[in-house]
Amino acid sequence: MVRSASRYSTIAIVLHWLIAAAIVFQVLIAWRMHDLKTPLGFALTQLHKSVGITVLLLSLARLAWRLANPPPPEPAGLAVWERTLAKAVHVLLYAIMIGMPITGWIMVSASRIQIPTLLYGVIPWPHLPIADLPAAAKAPWRSFGHESHEWLSYGAYALVALHVAGALKHQLFDRNMPVLARMAPGAKPRAWFDPRLLAIGLGAVGVIAAGELIKPPLPAAAPLAPASATADDDHDEHEDHDAPAAPTAPAPTPAAPAAATAAAPVASPARPTGPSHWAVARGSSVGFATSWSGQAIQGRFDKWTADILFSPDALDKSKVSVSIDLASANTGDAQRDQSLPASDWFDAANHPKATFVAERFEPAGEGRFIAHGRLTLRGVTKPVDLPFRLKIDADKARMSGVTSLDRTAFGVGQGDWQATDQIPGKVQVSVQITATRR
Ligand code: HEM
Ligand code: HEM
Repeated sequence: MVRSASRYSTIAIVLHWLIAAAIVFQVLIAWRMHDLKTPLGFALTQLHKSVGITVLLLSLARLAWRLANPPPPEPAGLAVWERTLAKAVHVLLYAIMIGMPITGWIMVSASRIQIPTLLYGVIPWPHLPIADLPAAAKAPWRSFGHESHEWLSYGAYALVALHVAGALKHQLFDRNMPVLARMAPGAKPRAWFDPRLLAIGLGAVGVIAAGELIKPPLPAAAPLAPASATADDDHDEHEDHDAPAAPTAPAPTPAAPAAATAAAPVASPARPTGPSHWAVARGSSVGFATSWSGQAIQGRFDKWTADILFSPDALDKSKVSVSIDLASANTGDAQRDQSLPASDWFDAANHPKATFVAERFEPAGEGRFIAHGRLTLRGVTKPVDLPFRLKIDADKARMSGVTSLDRTAFGVGQGDWQATDQIPGKVQVSVQITATRR
């Protein structure tokens, strides 16, 4: 007869519903990911990865539990084809529950652009070792991960539909076939309005609504104070107030500050004949500003050095060279910042430093100059002009300059990122230096 008492253990039941809810949510999130290049697409993908890895861990736990705790005997009266089909569907569902996350994990590990996985923005989750393979060896893994993730998702839709149809058939139409009760203890077969069945339906509506509506936190937009608050300001008074703008921005400490000089044009009676060296002081910064889908992004480089030999009276002998450690790019979002040095962006593994060397300076009005230099970035060298303002007070100098670059001319942003619809080609670079005469 019917063994109405037979049901899965509480742990098996809790894990079943948790995993089912997570998978439904996961698929809805995946359908909304569309364009991974947008901030929302990026944030949804981070959430998708987090929920997917959670499903993997829960499914492995459930499988282990099942092996240690065999399920209750099947209800009597099931036709052989029903038994066989149900078994096959269950085995294949396990393959989905474990295979989907693993193929997703393969896909992101073999991705050209290495975006780290931080589960729920907090717990670091490693890439598979394929992440360290050379680009050519990674490509087949990437397409395998991608294709199998997609095909498994079609399998998942079909299997879950069959599985739910089976559960509902026994629950709604069969006489004395307490199948749902095995996973939802107490459910009465043939009761269309059984409270457990209603709860499952309501739960499904809730999970679908959450999957459709959830707005995961977008990557940090403008975490840093403006890198150059007054660079374009015309009032010298204001320029002195650069400092108040700076305190909110953590002051980068150039790794090996270098020197430069400028003879104080008015104050110093004894002018040195040549340019002198200046040492970069704390509070100096090299920053950049761009946007992502219209959202402003401010960044800075935490490690750079500058070698400054400069005097307004000896422009022809002045020389400035700045060396920037590209791996130190900081936009205030850990995941984005870890992908910036990757080959699609700065390619810091092959070109760790960007250098700006200026040997020609042009006066451009009171306290203003233009440095005509060459910027080498990602192995490409192009002329770049940096207009800047300079104020020298005895042995202290303060300069600020802003210029704009076309990132695509240097190959910053490869593949899909070459397009300038989400991230514009023009990037503003700002430099603020406080220096003391050596
Ligand atoms: C993504 C969604 C789902 C997945 C991945 C899933 C997966 C599974 C798996 C793997 C089993 C076999 C458990 C075992 O023997 O270890 C199972 C059993 C079961 N599931 Fe689901 N399930 C899902 C959704 C649902 C839904 C929505 C219902 C009900 C409407 C349901 C009802 C049941 C029932 C009644 C059993 C026990 C069947 C039996 O003992 O013969 N499942 N499920
Ligand atoms: C139960 C777990 C998972 C399910 C059910 C699932 C489901 C899906 C679905 C339905 C898609 C859209 C497929 C398409 O139409 O192309 C998708 C895409 C994606 N999934 Fe998953 N996923 C899971 C786990 C994971 C995990 C763990 C990761 C990474 C760690 C991941 C990474 C991705 C990525 C990056 C895409 C976008 C692929 C692209 O179009 O470029 N997924 N997933």
